[in-house]
Amino acid sequence: MTKQPAYPSGFKVAQPPFGGLPVLLAPMAGITDLPFRRVVAGFGAGLVVSEMVASAELLTARPSARARAELGLGEGATAVQLAGREAGAMAEAARMLEGQGARIIDINMGCPAKKVTSGWSGSALMREPDHALRLIEAVRGAVSVPVTLKMRLGWDEGCLNAPELAVRAEGAGVSMITVHGRTRCQFYRGAADWAAIAAVVRAVSVPVVANGDIIDASTARAALAASGAAAVMVGRGARGRPWVLASIAAGLGLMPLPDIPHGAQRAALVAAHYDAILSFYGRELGLRVARKHLGWYLDAAAEGGAEGRAIPSDLRRAILTADTPARVMALMADALSGVPSLPARAQAA
Ligand SMILES: Cc1cc2nc3c(=O)[nH]c(=O)nc-3n(C[C@H](O)[C@H](O)[C@H](O)COP(=O)(O)O)c2cc1C
Repeated sequence: MTKQPAYPSGFKVAQPPFGGLPVLLAPMAGITDLPFRRVVAGFGAGLVVSEMVASAELLTARPSARARAELGLGEGATAVQLAGREAGAMAEAARMLEGQGARIIDINMGCPAKKVTSGWSGSALMREPDHALRLIEAVRGAVSVPVTLKMRLGWDEGCLNAPELAVRAEGAGVSMITVHGRTRCQFYRGAADWAAIAAVVRAVSVPVVANGDIIDASTARAALAASGAAAVMVGRGARGRPWVLASIAAGLGLMPLPDIPHGAQRAALVAAHYDAILSFYGRELGLRVARKHLGWYLDAAAEGGAEGRAIPSDLRRAILTADTPARVMALMADALSGVPSLPARAQAA
């Protein structure tokens, strides 16, 4: 189920302990699953974070083999992100995860989704700092691995309490704090306010990670300069561009430029990722999950600087409905090289 796919040569899978790069992959439910995290880690990332897992779910349902694998417990440089509202359940879930090999437990106080905040977890916890603290203390007290926290600037403009919560969280023993530079009520609207993260940086001595709208080395530099943060975390900017964290680290002068695959090499990378998705989820679900990533790879190719080109819609459709890695690779090679080889297109030519 979690077999390592055949990535193109030059691609390395990060081994524990991680390289310590201050460029981290954000948790994104439905996106940063184990296959994607491995692709990103293969290029280089300081840390990747599992998709959020609800403590109550971990404790009550017996997680499937896939759900357990998804947590990446045996993987280097992976934090497992826990969400929840009950201190006891959070502590028990954290203890269980540590027992199963989690190296870092991240607590989610940033998720704005209604289905999460309506249960008063995720970013809703920022409205109840006393309760949030009890959760952090319970988790901290339950495990000996590092506990980290991810949050937003606050609930809304009238409640920008990230610095205050950060100070209390540091007092409770968290090792690192990531701040998405928006309030919960902004969801993803507007621009992330990196300068507002500076108040958190000034308030604590643990490393603070700046997050929100960081998509390349220049936005990373701007976010670091405005916030004074120790590291950046990249979410949406990595979709279809799994090398972007390594590119950012290189742009910050921290590692050599990654070998960003182009043309046939890019097609091989996409096919290997696709293969990994199918083998992780099984064919039926895998085809659906893969489609999102294929779309992002195509978007990235279309935007891709010098090699950017619009992908013809019939070719795009064929890629999104392909059902084998070989087919994806052949079609992707067409899309990335601009040489059409779809039968219909070949006939038309
Ligand atoms: C589809 C999606 C799912 C997300 N899921 C989570 C999650 O499970 N846990 C979490 O802390 N943040 C989650 N986030 C928020 C991201 O981690 C990140 O804070 C946010 O996208 C801002 O960073 P970006 O501008 O680099 O994408 C999610 C974001 C998106 C777009």
